[in-house]
Amino acid sequence: MEKSSLERQDLNEEVRRIWDRNAEWWDDRIGDGNRFQCQLIEPATERLLEIQPGSVVLDVACGAGRFGRRMAELGAHVVAIDLSRRFIERAVARTPEHLRNIEYHVVDATDASALRALGAGRFDGAVATMALMDMAAIEPLFSALPTLLKPGGWFVFSLMHPCFQTPEASRFAVSTEREGEFEVRNGVQVSQYLTPRAWKGVGILGQPEPHYYFHRPLHLLLGCGFRHGFAVDGLEEPGLPPGAEDGRYLRWDHLPEIPPILVVRMRLCARPAGDGGGATEKR
Ligand SMILES: C[S@@+](CC[C@H](N)C(=O)[O-])C[C@H]1O[C@@H](n2cnc3c(N)ncnc32)[C@H](O)[C@@H]1O
Repeated sequence: MEKSSLERQDLNEEVRRIWDRNAEWWDDRIGDGNRFQCQLIEPATERLLEIQPGSVVLDVACGAGRFGRRMAELGAHVVAIDLSRRFIERAVARTPEHLRNIEYHVVDATDASALRALGAGRFDGAVATMALMDMAAIEPLFSALPTLLKPGGWFVFSLMHPCFQTPEASRFAVSTEREGEFEVRNGVQVSQYLTPRAWKGVGILGQPEPHYYFHRPLHLLLGCGFRHGFAVDGLEEPGLPPGAEDGRYLRWDHLPEIPPILVVRMRLCARPAGDGGGATEKR
Protein backbone atom coordinates (compact mmCIF):
# COMPACT_ATOMS: atom_id res chain seq x y z
CA MET A 1 0.00 0.00 0.00
CA GLU A 2 2.93 2.39 -0.48
CA LYS A 3 1.49 5.12 -2.69
CA SER A 4 2.62 8.50 -3.92
CA SER A 5 0.15 11.24 -3.01
CA LEU A 6 -0.96 11.40 -6.67
CA GLU A 7 -1.71 7.66 -6.74
CA ARG A 8 -3.48 8.03 -3.43
CA GLN A 9 -5.67 10.84 -4.79
CA ASP A 10 -6.74 8.61 -7.70
CA LEU A 11 -7.47 5.73 -5.35
CA ASN A 12 -9.41 8.00 -3.03
CA GLU A 13 -11.53 9.27 -5.91
CA GLU A 14 -12.32 5.64 -6.73
CA VAL A 15 -13.18 5.01 -3.07
CA ARG A 16 -15.53 8.03 -3.15
CA ARG A 17 -17.15 6.93 -6.45
CA ILE A 18 -17.85 3.44 -5.13
CA TRP A 19 -19.31 4.67 -1.80
CA ASP A 20 -21.46 7.23 -3.65
CA ARG A 21 -22.76 4.38 -5.80
CA ASN A 22 -23.41 2.07 -2.84
CA ALA A 23 -24.68 4.66 -0.32
CA GLU A 24 -28.44 4.49 -0.83
CA TRP A 25 -28.56 0.72 -1.23
CA TRP A 26 -26.33 0.30 1.86
CA ASP A 27 -28.45 2.65 3.96
CA ASP A 28 -31.68 0.95 2.82
CA ARG A 29 -30.25 -2.36 3.98
CA ILE A 30 -28.67 -1.49 7.33
CA GLY A 31 -29.61 2.12 8.11
CA ASP A 32 -32.12 0.95 10.73
CA GLY A 33 -29.57 -1.40 12.31
CA ASN A 34 -28.50 -5.01 11.75
CA ARG A 35 -27.21 -7.68 14.14
CA PHE A 36 -23.60 -6.53 13.88
CA GLN A 37 -24.50 -2.92 14.66
CA CYS A 38 -27.04 -3.65 17.40
CA GLN A 39 -25.25 -6.53 19.17
CA LEU A 40 -21.55 -5.84 18.60
CA ILE A 41 -20.47 -2.48 17.24
CA GLU A 42 -22.77 -0.03 19.00
CA PRO A 43 -22.82 -1.54 22.53
CA ALA A 44 -18.99 -1.93 22.59
CA THR A 45 -18.45 1.57 21.19
CA GLU A 46 -20.87 3.09 23.70
CA ARG A 47 -19.07 1.36 26.58
CA LEU A 48 -15.81 3.00 25.51
CA LEU A 49 -17.24 6.48 24.87
CA GLU A 50 -17.06 9.28 27.39
CA ILE A 51 -19.98 11.47 26.38
CA GLN A 52 -21.23 14.08 28.82
CA PRO A 53 -24.05 16.47 27.94
CA GLY A 54 -22.37 19.19 25.88
CA SER A 55 -19.36 17.09 24.79
CA VAL A 56 -18.24 17.99 21.28
CA VAL A 57 -17.53 14.86 19.21
CA LEU A 58 -16.17 14.39 15.70
CA ASP A 59 -17.80 11.45 13.86
CA VAL A 60 -15.31 10.46 11.16
CA ALA A 61 -16.70 8.64 8.09
CA CYS A 62 -20.23 8.84 9.51
CA GLY A 63 -21.99 7.18 6.56
CA ALA A 64 -25.75 7.82 6.88
CA GLY A 65 -25.14 9.03 10.44
CA ARG A 66 -26.81 6.32 12.52
CA PHE A 67 -24.20 6.37 15.30
CA GLY A 68 -23.80 10.17 15.16
CA ARG A 69 -27.51 10.51 15.91
CA ARG A 70 -27.13 8.12 18.83
CA MET A 71 -24.33 10.31 20.26
CA ALA A 72 -26.49 13.41 19.74
CA GLU A 73 -29.27 11.68 21.71
CA LEU A 74 -26.74 11.08 24.49
CA GLY A 75 -26.25 14.85 24.63
CA ALA A 76 -23.19 15.43 22.46
CA HIS A 77 -22.80 18.14 19.87
CA VAL A 78 -21.73 16.06 16.85
CA VAL A 79 -19.73 17.18 13.83
CA ALA A 80 -20.18 14.33 11.35
CA ILE A 81 -18.06 14.06 8.21
CA ASP A 82 -17.87 11.67 5.28
CA LEU A 83 -16.16 11.50 1.92
CA SER A 84 -19.39 10.52 0.16
CA ARG A 85 -21.87 13.32 -0.61
CA ARG A 86 -24.60 10.71 -1.13
CA PHE A 87 -24.12 9.38 2.39
CA ILE A 88 -24.16 12.91 3.83
CA GLU A 89 -27.41 13.64 1.95
CA ARG A 90 -28.91 10.47 3.44
CA ALA A 91 -27.67 11.46 6.91
CA VAL A 92 -29.28 14.90 6.64
CA ALA A 93 -32.54 13.35 5.40
CA ARG A 94 -32.58 10.89 8.31
CA THR A 95 -31.97 13.52 11.00
CA PRO A 96 -35.16 14.53 12.81
CA GLU A 97 -35.94 18.18 13.58
CA HIS A 98 -35.31 17.81 17.30
CA LEU A 99 -31.66 16.77 16.77
CA ARG A 100 -30.26 20.21 16.10
CA ASN A 101 -26.95 19.31 17.73
CA ILE A 102 -25.49 17.60 14.62
CA GLU A 103 -23.71 19.27 11.73
CA TYR A 104 -22.77 17.34 8.61
CA HIS A 105 -19.92 18.10 6.20
CA VAL A 106 -18.44 16.39 3.16
CA VAL A 107 -14.79 16.07 4.22
CA ASP A 108 -12.12 13.63 3.10
CA ALA A 109 -10.48 12.19 6.21
CA THR A 110 -7.28 11.50 4.26
CA ASP A 111 -6.84 15.28 3.88
CA ALA A 112 -5.16 16.47 7.09
CA SER A 113 -5.55 20.20 6.34
CA ALA A 114 -9.31 19.82 5.63
CA LEU A 115 -9.59 18.00 8.96
CA ARG A 116 -7.63 20.67 10.86
CA ALA A 117 -9.96 23.33 9.40
CA LEU A 118 -12.79 21.80 11.50
CA GLY A 119 -11.35 23.59 14.55
CA ALA A 120 -8.23 23.37 16.70
CA GLY A 121 -8.88 22.19 20.27
CA ARG A 122 -12.62 21.96 19.54
CA PHE A 123 -13.36 18.30 20.25
CA ASP A 124 -13.59 16.27 23.46
CA GLY A 125 -13.41 13.11 21.42
CA ALA A 126 -13.63 11.50 18.00
CA VAL A 127 -15.34 8.34 16.80
CA ALA A 128 -15.00 6.26 13.63
CA THR A 129 -17.35 3.27 13.45
CA MET A 130 -16.42 0.54 10.95
CA ALA A 131 -14.48 2.94 8.76
CA LEU A 132 -10.67 2.89 9.22
CA MET A 133 -10.39 -0.28 7.10
CA ASP A 134 -12.29 1.56 4.34
CA MET A 135 -9.95 4.56 4.29
CA ALA A 136 -7.08 4.66 1.79
CA ALA A 137 -4.77 6.25 4.43
CA ILE A 138 -5.06 6.74 8.19
CA GLU A 139 -1.85 8.68 8.83
CA PRO A 140 -3.47 12.07 7.90
CA LEU A 141 -6.32 11.46 10.36
CA PHE A 142 -4.01 10.48 13.23
CA SER A 143 -1.76 13.44 12.43
CA ALA A 144 -4.71 15.90 12.54
CA LEU A 145 -6.39 14.53 15.69
CA PRO A 146 -3.83 15.99 18.16
CA THR A 147 -4.71 19.45 16.77
CA LEU A 148 -8.47 18.84 16.80
CA LEU A 149 -8.75 17.25 20.24
CA LYS A 150 -8.59 18.91 23.64
CA PRO A 151 -5.77 17.66 25.93
CA GLY A 152 -6.59 14.12 27.10
CA GLY A 153 -9.09 13.76 24.24
CA TRP A 154 -10.10 10.28 23.09
CA PHE A 155 -10.57 8.49 19.78
CA VAL A 156 -12.85 5.44 19.76
CA PHE A 157 -12.91 3.36 16.60
CA SER A 158 -14.30 0.03 15.46
CA LEU A 159 -13.15 -1.92 12.46
CA MET A 160 -13.14 -5.38 10.94
CA HIS A 161 -10.78 -7.37 13.18
CA PRO A 162 -7.44 -7.16 11.35
CA CYS A 163 -6.38 -10.61 12.62
CA PHE A 164 -9.42 -12.56 11.47
CA GLN A 165 -10.84 -10.58 8.54
CA THR A 166 -7.70 -10.41 6.42
CA PRO A 167 -7.51 -10.56 2.63
CA GLU A 168 -8.35 -14.08 1.52
CA ALA A 169 -9.14 -15.34 5.03
CA SER A 170 -11.32 -18.42 4.77
CA ARG A 171 -13.87 -19.79 7.16
CA PHE A 172 -13.86 -23.55 7.55
CA ALA A 173 -15.79 -26.36 9.18
CA VAL A 174 -14.19 -29.73 9.90
CA SER A 175 -15.95 -32.81 11.09
CA THR A 176 -13.95 -35.24 13.25
CA GLU A 177 -15.11 -38.62 14.51
CA ARG A 178 -14.41 -39.22 18.19
CA GLU A 179 -15.47 -42.57 19.62
CA GLY A 180 -18.39 -42.90 17.23
CA GLU A 181 -19.58 -39.26 17.57
CA PHE A 182 -18.98 -36.57 14.96
CA GLU A 183 -17.69 -33.27 16.28
CA VAL A 184 -17.80 -30.18 14.06
CA ARG A 185 -15.28 -27.38 14.58
CA ASN A 186 -15.61 -24.06 12.81
CA GLY A 187 -12.75 -21.63 12.43
CA VAL A 188 -10.94 -19.02 10.37
CA GLN A 189 -7.84 -19.78 8.34
CA VAL A 190 -5.50 -16.84 7.83
CA SER A 191 -2.64 -16.96 5.38
CA GLN A 192 -1.80 -13.25 4.97
CA TYR A 193 -1.49 -10.78 7.81
CA LEU A 194 1.75 -8.79 8.04
CA THR A 195 1.72 -7.05 4.67
CA PRO A 196 -0.66 -4.07 4.35
CA ARG A 197 -2.80 -4.48 1.30
CA ALA A 198 -5.71 -2.92 -0.57
CA TRP A 199 -8.36 -5.37 -1.76
CA LYS A 200 -11.96 -5.27 -2.92
CA GLY A 201 -14.79 -7.11 -1.21
CA VAL A 202 -18.40 -6.92 -0.12
CA GLY A 203 -19.62 -5.85 3.29
CA ILE A 204 -23.23 -6.79 2.55
CA LEU A 205 -24.10 -9.54 0.07
CA GLY A 206 -25.69 -8.07 -3.06
CA GLN A 207 -24.26 -4.54 -2.74
CA PRO A 208 -24.17 -2.76 -6.12
CA GLU A 209 -20.36 -2.73 -6.33
CA PRO A 210 -17.57 -4.26 -4.20
CA HIS A 211 -15.65 -1.61 -2.27
CA TYR A 212 -12.03 -1.20 -1.25
CA TYR A 213 -10.70 -2.54 2.03
CA PHE A 214 -7.29 -1.51 3.33
CA HIS A 215 -5.79 -4.23 5.48
CA ARG A 216 -3.31 -3.03 8.12
CA PRO A 217 -1.78 -5.34 10.71
CA LEU A 218 -2.15 -4.22 14.32
CA HIS A 219 1.39 -2.83 14.65
CA LEU A 220 0.72 -0.43 11.74
CA LEU A 221 -2.81 0.45 12.81
CA LEU A 222 -2.03 1.18 16.46
CA GLY A 223 1.54 2.32 15.69
CA CYS A 224 0.06 5.19 13.72
CA GLY A 225 -1.72 6.37 16.87
CA PHE A 226 1.36 5.80 19.09
CA ARG A 227 3.45 7.97 16.76
CA HIS A 228 1.00 10.83 17.14
CA GLY A 229 0.87 10.80 20.94
CA PHE A 230 -1.98 8.33 21.59
CA ALA A 231 -2.01 5.32 23.92
CA VAL A 232 -4.57 2.51 23.98
CA ASP A 233 -6.64 2.66 27.17
CA GLY A 234 -9.68 0.60 26.21
CA LEU A 235 -10.25 -2.38 23.90
CA GLU A 236 -13.05 -4.82 23.17
CA GLU A 237 -13.26 -7.89 20.93
CA PRO A 238 -16.96 -8.78 20.93
CA GLY A 239 -18.15 -12.03 19.36
CA LEU A 240 -21.61 -12.91 18.12
CA PRO A 241 -23.49 -15.38 20.32
CA PRO A 242 -24.24 -18.68 18.55
CA GLY A 243 -27.18 -18.23 16.20
CA ALA A 244 -29.58 -20.44 14.34
CA GLU A 245 -27.81 -22.78 11.93
CA ASP A 246 -29.13 -22.15 8.45
CA GLY A 247 -26.68 -24.49 6.72
CA ARG A 248 -26.08 -22.08 3.81
CA TYR A 249 -22.51 -21.09 4.56
CA LEU A 250 -20.31 -20.37 7.53
CA ARG A 251 -21.54 -17.20 9.14
CA TRP A 252 -20.08 -15.28 12.05
CA ASP A 253 -22.67 -16.69 14.44
CA HIS A 254 -21.14 -20.11 13.75
CA LEU A 255 -17.85 -18.71 15.11
CA PRO A 256 -18.66 -17.50 18.65
CA GLU A 257 -14.98 -17.82 19.68
CA ILE A 258 -13.68 -15.55 16.89
CA PRO A 259 -14.31 -11.78 17.17
CA PRO A 260 -15.26 -10.31 13.79
CA ILE A 261 -14.64 -6.76 14.96
CA LEU A 262 -12.19 -4.85 17.13
CA VAL A 263 -13.15 -1.73 19.09
CA VAL A 264 -10.37 0.46 20.46
CA ARG A 265 -10.16 3.60 22.56
CA MET A 266 -6.95 5.61 22.17
CA ARG A 267 -6.25 8.63 24.34
CA LEU A 268 -4.08 11.60 23.58
CA CYS A 269 -1.48 11.46 26.30
CA ALA A 270 1.78 12.81 24.95
CA ARG A 271 3.26 15.09 22.41
CA PRO A 272 3.59 13.36 19.03
CA ALA A 273 6.75 11.28 19.00
CA GLY A 274 7.84 12.49 15.54
CA ASP A 275 9.33 9.90 13.25
CA GLY A 276 10.81 7.67 15.91
CA GLY A 277 7.62 6.21 17.38
CA GLY A 278 7.36 2.83 15.69
CA ALA A 279 6.63 1.22 12.35
CA THR A 280 5.23 3.55 9.69
CA GLU A 281 2.55 3.12 7.06
CA LYS A 282 4.43 4.94 4.30
CA ARG A 283 2.22 7.08 2.07
C1 LIG B 1 -18.75 0.86 6.23
S1 LIG B 1 -19.15 2.57 6.07
C2 LIG B 1 -19.38 3.00 7.79
C3 LIG B 1 -20.23 4.20 7.96
C4 LIG B 1 -20.64 4.54 9.40
N1 LIG B 1 -19.54 4.98 10.20
C5 LIG B 1 -21.35 3.37 10.02
O1 LIG B 1 -20.85 2.82 11.01
O2 LIG B 1 -22.44 3.02 9.54
C6 LIG B 1 -17.58 3.29 5.67
C7 LIG B 1 -17.66 4.78 5.44
O3 LIG B 1 -16.34 5.30 5.27
C8 LIG B 1 -16.45 6.40 4.40
N2 LIG B 1 -15.10 6.78 3.93
C9 LIG B 1 -14.23 6.04 3.22
N3 LIG B 1 -13.10 6.74 2.98
C10 LIG B 1 -13.28 7.95 3.59
C11 LIG B 1 -12.47 9.11 3.69
N4 LIG B 1 -11.27 9.17 3.12
N5 LIG B 1 -12.95 10.18 4.37
C12 LIG B 1 -14.19 10.13 4.94
N6 LIG B 1 -15.00 9.06 4.86
C13 LIG B 1 -14.54 7.98 4.19
C14 LIG B 1 -17.39 5.89 3.33
O4 LIG B 1 -17.92 6.91 2.52
C15 LIG B 1 -18.44 5.20 4.21
O5 LIG B 1 -19.45 6.08 4.59
